[in-house]
Amino acid sequence: MQEISFTTKAKAYEWAELSAQDRALIEAAKQMTNHSYSPYSHFRVGAAAQLQNGVIIKGANQENAAYPSGLCAERVTLFAANANYPEEKVEALAIACNADGHFTTDPGAPCGACRQVMLETEHRYTGDMRVLLYGEKYTLVFNSAKDLMPLGFFAEDLLG
Ligand code: THU
Repeated sequence: MQEISFTTKAKAYEWAELSAQDRALIEAAKQMTNHSYSPYSHFRVGAAAQLQNGVIIKGANQENAAYPSGLCAERVTLFAANANYPEEKVEALAIACNADGHFTTDPGAPCGACRQVMLETEHRYTGDMRVLLYGEKYTLVFNSAKDLMPLGFFAEDLLG
């Protein structure tokens, strides 16, 4: 038996340390928490995707009385970006969470399904997709979706 450890890395930024472009993308994600439809969880998540052509695609979590029919903000946003601009690379995705009327102190952690979709979105274009997780205390910046998903499943894995 051999123990194997997987490591990952991210950078924690204070608000003032972020670039103007990153701050604008996060502001868009924060604003989108107002568009969340979350009558069941009351957990409002907003996301904003920065495309290579300069367009920003926004989304928010959408819930449903049949609970599994809802969708997280990240996937609403990435699928909308990919559907409307299939040729445009997604350069960055910002996420903000609001619980009980307050943005979370610590950055929100995307669910596993969203991480898998981030991985595929990154993989279909050239280069990395940055992921910015906003928290009131600090923002976590991942330089690649791969850093959020060690041992990720890729199309090549289907070949065995
Ligand atoms: N949610 C997101 O939109 N993104 C995440 O990263 C985590 C969870 C949503 C799903 C559901 O509408 C609510 O937050 C509570 O789980």
